[in-house]
Amino acid sequence: MTASPTILLVEDEDGLREALAIVLRRAGYQVFERNSAAEGLRAIDRESPDVVVTDLAMENPLSGMDVLRHARQFSPATETILMTAFGTIENAVECMRLGAFHYITKPINSEELELLVAKAVEHRRLVAENRNLRQRVKDSCRFDNIVGASPAMSRLFEQITRVAALDTTVLLNGETGTGKELVAHAIHDNSPRAPRSFVAINCGALPESLLESELFGYVRGAFTGASTNKKGLFEEADGGTFFLDEISAAPMSIQVKLLRVLEERETRRIGDTRSTPIDVRIIAASNRDLQAEVAAGRVRDDLFYRLNVVSLRLPPLRERREDIPLLAQHFVQKYATRFHRPTASIDPAAMRIVTGYEWPGNVRELENVMERAVALGGSDRVGVEDLPPELSVRHGSGAAVSEVGVVMTLEDAERECILWAVKRCEGNLAQAAKGLGIGRTTLWRKLKRYGVQVGEDEGGGAS
Ligand SMILES: Nc1ncnc2c1ncn2[C@@H]1O[C@H](COP(=O)(O)OP(=O)(O)OP(=O)(O)O)[C@@H](O)[C@H]1O
Ligand SMILES: [Mg+2]
Repeated sequence: MTASPTILLVEDEDGLREALAIVLRRAGYQVFERNSAAEGLRAIDRESPDVVVTDLAMENPLSGMDVLRHARQFSPATETILMTAFGTIENAVECMRLGAFHYITKPINSEELELLVAKAVEHRRLVAENRNLRQRVKDSCRFDNIVGASPAMSRLFEQITRVAALDTTVLLNGETGTGKELVAHAIHDNSPRAPRSFVAINCGALPESLLESELFGYVRGAFTGASTNKKGLFEEADGGTFFLDEISAAPMSIQVKLLRVLEERETRRIGDTRSTPIDVRIIAASNRDLQAEVAAGRVRDDLFYRLNVVSLRLPPLRERREDIPLLAQHFVQKYATRFHRPTASIDPAAMRIVTGYEWPGNVRELENVMERAVALGGSDRVGVEDLPPELSVRHGSGAAVSEVGVVMTLEDAERECILWAVKRCEGNLAQAAKGLGIGRTTLWRKLKRYGVQVGEDEGGGAS
């Protein structure tokens, strides 16, 4: 539980000030009262209140405008609300230009003031939270663009630093989207080989014969169509780093040849009688358990042992949930810049959903979701409506407590419950509405608000 927000109330009319102070205290704020602008300035210096509520036209020499200027300059996180008499609206406009949060005209409606103060407090909290998050994103980028502050990622950063300096073969293991290619790049970039080339090939992406000629090259006449000599990628990578992605997908015949490269440190073009010595560092990656692949006979054990000199495991995102807000913020900034969008932050309800999701596609999936949210979102904040609805559906249960232990708002719980029901009924809205005990129109309206595509009225399809 954090301390209650602090409000500085500056008003020279005692009766009004005392009345407003009572209202604000009752609303749960800690209130400081001052009866002049000069006193107000001193209180700003001493208390750095969350919000200042000040009269605009006070007796000389200083006015509410000076209170505002002082707050902007010496306590920039403080939000200022001005109370103006009806006739001084132009001054109020000037105040907005100087950075006031808002103004309210006299006679003061206490409910209106309470609402405005609540908004100012919330705004200040969000600004602080965002600044904090942005700073943490910056601090946690240890290797260009690898974001992470969890203990697991800190350990990985250390390992990358250590391994990069050694010239050893590295095996990267981790589920899809956990950042294997990113880490391979980081190892290269932080190694003495950084000025030389980094060559990557995905062993699962090419048919066997093409993979072979890409890796090793060929001499003219080696096979039909080989009309010239061609260098292989191993030769291209000479002096640099060679990244063998999806190693377990390499056909057996290629595995034998890879083993030769690792053992002999030389490569031979298809159809050639001579080998060329090469100096490459090998980094291999797999999203499968290679030991199991060896046991199943899909990966040669001698190749596995050659590759498995130093192995790094990249933890899935669900094992390091504390990195999710950092990554989400990182991607929002990345795509806001790229798409020239004003989006700068993620709203707390959306963040709760994002941190509670399982992320089977790991960081890549999170990145895609944020890219889409920024590209399609209409405002400067990623909201719940910008997220794909399946993120809100907790698999297996409709529990209203998220796994990170944050109890959600009633609104979040309702949305979860509804989306879960629609999914259970495979998009049959009539059935879902019945199960939920609400009308179909209500359900339809709510789904629309959540950004779920629904047929104009009829039709059971919800995607
Ligand atoms: N820690 C991280 N910080 C920032 N971006 C990351 C991080 N991890 C992964 N990414 C980003 O997520 C995406 C997927 O990463 P990458 O391609 O390295 O995953 P991978 O493990 O190779 O996945 P696959 O097994 O499917 O090939 C990339 O766009 C990458 O930049
Ligand atoms: Mg990859």
